[in-house]
Amino acid sequence: MLVFAHRGASGYAPENTLAAMDKAIELGSKAIELDVHCVEGELVVFHDRRLEGKSTGHGLIHLSTKADLDKISVGGQPIPSLWDVLARINTVAQGDCTVNIELKGVGCVAPFVAMYPRVLNELGFSNQQLLISSFNHLYLSQVKQHLPQVLIAPLLGGIPLDLAQVVTDLQAYSLHLDVAFISQAIVDDAHRRNAKVYVYTVDNSDDIQTLKAMGVDGIFSNYPDKAIVAATLPLT
Ligand code: G3P
Ligand code: MG
Repeated sequence: MLVFAHRGASGYAPENTLAAMDKAIELGSKAIELDVHCVEGELVVFHDRRLEGKSTGHGLIHLSTKADLDKISVGGQPIPSLWDVLARINTVAQGDCTVNIELKGVGCVAPFVAMYPRVLNELGFSNQQLLISSFNHLYLSQVKQHLPQVLIAPLLGGIPLDLAQVVTDLQAYSLHLDVAFISQAIVDDAHRRNAKVYVYTVDNSDDIQTLKAMGVDGIFSNYPDKAIVAATLPLT
């Protein structure tokens, strides 16, 4: 079972910061998930659509400026650019870490499509090391149209009537499901369509055992070290 450090090792360090990425790798993570918004054409790593709550800033992130972000702290850490985070992960993990980039914000697609070739050529990532997910399936279809080689992953917050049909529609590599709505029917349907099934957000070992028994391929955890241990326990 693949364990993604959710927003980095967000149980131990401020989420989506360089510190959370460093901690994830230190804990042995071979996969990291992070969230992306666009600020003045640049992709930055942050979860919420608004700055207040998780940072010292205020207002909608996509209407802020890079100068605003420079003054903002997330638990004492800066809001990093996607470029800096990817560079850091591939350097520290020496190329041995998959990154799931979740496109969240307004205007993310064009800067992502422009940046992608440089991520391969200048940072040394492979296509297989990068997985692009979103709840916004239109974003994924646009990414796939411009970059057919990219691995994409639709996120679902529930179970649709047509189960995993979106996997076929988008030629997705994996389907990312909410642990609160997981069902054997959608796991099996995704597998029939040759997609992996990754489930968020899973921190409890009894949930991990249940998902393993269902044949789930991976999970997102805020405590990746504990999840890695729980995921290797034999089924009872
Ligand atoms: O990508 C899995 C999970 O991160 C999706 O939900 O809200 O935590 O970004 P959220
Ligand atoms: Mg996310």
